[in-house]
Amino acid sequence: MGRMSQAAISVRGLAKRYGEIEAVRGIDFEVRQGETFGFLGPNGAGKTTTINMLCTLARPTAGAASVAGHDVAKARDEVRRSIGLVFQDTTLDGYLTAERNLRFHAELYGVPRSEIGERMRQVLELVGLWDRRDSRVQTFSGGMMRRLEIARGLLHSPRVLFLDEPTIGLDIVARQRVREFLLSANRERGMTLLLTSHDLTDIERLCSRILIIDRGRLIFDGDIDTLKARYGKERVLVVDLEEPGPALQLDGARVIRIEGPRQWIAFDGERLSAAQLTAAAAAQAPLRDLTVQEPEIEDVVRRIYQERA
Ligand SMILES: Nc1ncnc2c1ncn2[C@@H]1O[C@H](COP(=O)(O)OP(=O)(O)O)[C@@H](O)[C@H]1O
Ligand SMILES: [Mg+2]
Repeated sequence: MGRMSQAAISVRGLAKRYGEIEAVRGIDFEVRQGETFGFLGPNGAGKTTTINMLCTLARPTAGAASVAGHDVAKARDEVRRSIGLVFQDTTLDGYLTAERNLRFHAELYGVPRSEIGERMRQVLELVGLWDRRDSRVQTFSGGMMRRLEIARGLLHSPRVLFLDEPTIGLDIVARQRVREFLLSANRERGMTLLLTSHDLTDIERLCSRILIIDRGRLIFDGDIDTLKARYGKERVLVVDLEEPGPALQLDGARVIRIEGPRQWIAFDGERLSAAQLTAAAAAQAPLRDLTVQEPEIEDVVRRIYQERA
């Protein structure tokens, strides 16, 4: 490999201070080309500030970062040409057609004239808007606008796509489609994705890796299974009794829900095994069936935020 680094994003000691506020307090991480990366953290944690520094929209006060091999402080134009942005506030022009919006963007990003037509067709087909290319954007639904924004973000074939809440405000069908477009862009083009989302389904479906920031510091960097293993100590055992009965009395565990003959029992998977609990439950009432539920990412992340609040 002739390239100095394989990293799509490389961050070392990155910090940002706004007067008295230390929004980002020296963080380090590296993202490989083609990785899909979810950026989580409670409100005010420093996510947007970090993304803004990586996109060259804010200047770091300390440390360094490079995107697609270019230093964000020294090579802003090169960084900007390598990235696509899909941010919350739309910058589409409602008076223009979908096609005009894209053409304007392609020219701004220096896409060769001879390639613009074909690229526009590709991205519009990808997001299912080719048939609507001649419609004014102001006639689009929220979901269509978001899809057009994603098409625009992909138009100049960026190496890295940054997305801030890409599915916010969309209905569940539109959400699912947006996730599919993003995954296909990642698979077919090897595009690196870095996204923030409060919708943890987005994170679970789209991201191979998660980074959690809190008060300007990184508190987790790893994959979802590692996150669950580290913080999701609580498991839930669902037992199906032969017939409805009173809540089971179990040491070190508690019944959190009863529906007919079914009881949900929460227990600390580190201190107690499912087998121990099952034996204790079976001693109290005849069991028909039982399953252990894996912790949901939503529960795990909520617990991390609450523990640190
Ligand atoms: N332009 C700014 N001027 C002053 N403070 C800011 C500015 N932008 C962000 N902050 C502060 O920096 C901290 C991190 O904000 P932000 O990066 O927007 O968090 P997040 O995106 O995780 O919600 C917050 O305390 C916020 O108030
Ligand atoms: Mg933010």
